[in-house]
Amino acid sequence: MRKIVIMPGDGIGKVVLPESLRVLEAVGFEAEYVHADIGWEQWMEHGNPLPEKTIELLKEHKLGLFGAITSKPKKEASDELKPELRDQGFTYYSPIVGLRQRFNLDVCIRPCRSFPGNPLNFIRKSAGGGSEEPEVDAVIFRQNTEGLYSGLEWTNPPEAVRQAMGTHPKWKPFANTDPADVALSVRVFTRAAVRRILEAAFAYAKQHGYDSVTVCEKPNVLRETSGMMEAVAKEVHEAYPDVRLRSTNIDAQMMWLTKNPEDYGVLVAGNLFGDIISDAFAGLVGGLGFACSGNIGDEVAVFEPTHGSAPKYETLDPPIVNPIAMVLSAAMLLDHIGEADKAEAVRNAVAGVVREGQVRTYDMLRMPGGPDVIAKGAATTTQMTDAIIAHLD
Ligand code: NAI
Ligand code: MG
Repeated sequence: MRKIVIMPGDGIGKVVLPESLRVLEAVGFEAEYVHADIGWEQWMEHGNPLPEKTIELLKEHKLGLFGAITSKPKKEASDELKPELRDQGFTYYSPIVGLRQRFNLDVCIRPCRSFPGNPLNFIRKSAGGGSEEPEVDAVIFRQNTEGLYSGLEWTNPPEAVRQAMGTHPKWKPFANTDPADVALSVRVFTRAAVRRILEAAFAYAKQHGYDSVTVCEKPNVLRETSGMMEAVAKEVHEAYPDVRLRSTNIDAQMMWLTKNPEDYGVLVAGNLFGDIISDAFAGLVGGLGFACSGNIGDEVAVFEPTHGSAPKYETLDPPIVNPIAMVLSAAMLLDHIGEADKAEAVRNAVAGVVREGQVRTYDMLRMPGGPDVIAKGAATTTQMTDAIIAHLD
């Protein structure tokens, strides 16, 4: 039987991940789930939030479902280490970023689709004075490992770096600034990674019937990195004559996505811009309770909701958080392994629950979260999952 590594992590990750497994079972998907530790408890106990054992399990089984982890600032991180580990040079790093790097999960897919009837859907004024709810169906492909998130950065860059910068004529205005007052974050694009994200995007567009791929960068200013993305996009596009290649600037895209979000299908961007536009599109379709994602590498793929661990809601009993983002992430896993019918059945069930509007978690009712939301009519996490399961045919 297929084995899937489950990494609930911290906070509400532990609440929503098991809910998604209930849906997978109900849709008739058979798998064995192998638990793997990740997150804050591992950090406090062992000084390592991403245990080697977890890495081994992913290496072996190739597929992961991830809930969420808690990250805390540097000082709190070292203060919460168990006493015998303190002051021994352990430094905290985000284990999900660690996973992406370790397995080169360089293709991040973030679908943002509006479900009709979701009270959180974006609404705009129509020309006639009324309002309309554009159908958003955008899928963002974000390069997940390079760009401005490569970690290649300094405050007070070393002499050798400054010298190298000095070989570029544009360094001149900075050359006389005290290096201690200079911070530098380098945007690195490599052609192979750029090609991979673009090929994944075009293949997805073709397979799922999207008529366009929009490269969303800033090539007029970031001539080298964005320029490379645009150039490679033209090459990759040649194999996909039926898919239109479009290009927008990230700044203009942020404006257009509230003017005409229905005009966009697949979008591709580097790490930072991809992070930004995927959150922006997610905001049009219900936000964190609905935002699912996949991190795909050559060998390993990990699926996760984009929300964090919302620690204040971890111990609420009954739990109140929306499991839909996690459930939709599990549906992406089904898609990834060729179980398209089951994936579609899960999405249709979610759509059915949202359309009916009988069962809504607190976020869908625009309530501030808290233990009182159930008394005010919000569904519990479990009730939402039950409703989704009841809608599976
Ligand atoms: P968060 O996403 O955990 O929560 C922000 C707010 O969004 C929550 O207070 C809640 O009101 C709402 N929310 C989140 N998920 C929801 C759901 N499923 N249903 C209903 N409402 C939901 O982000 P925050 O508060 O900035 O971070 C909390 C912790 O999570 C931090 O330690 C942070 O580092 C970590 N984090 C982890 C991520 C990951 O594991 N991939 C991503 C983002 C944050
Ligand atoms: Mg983000």
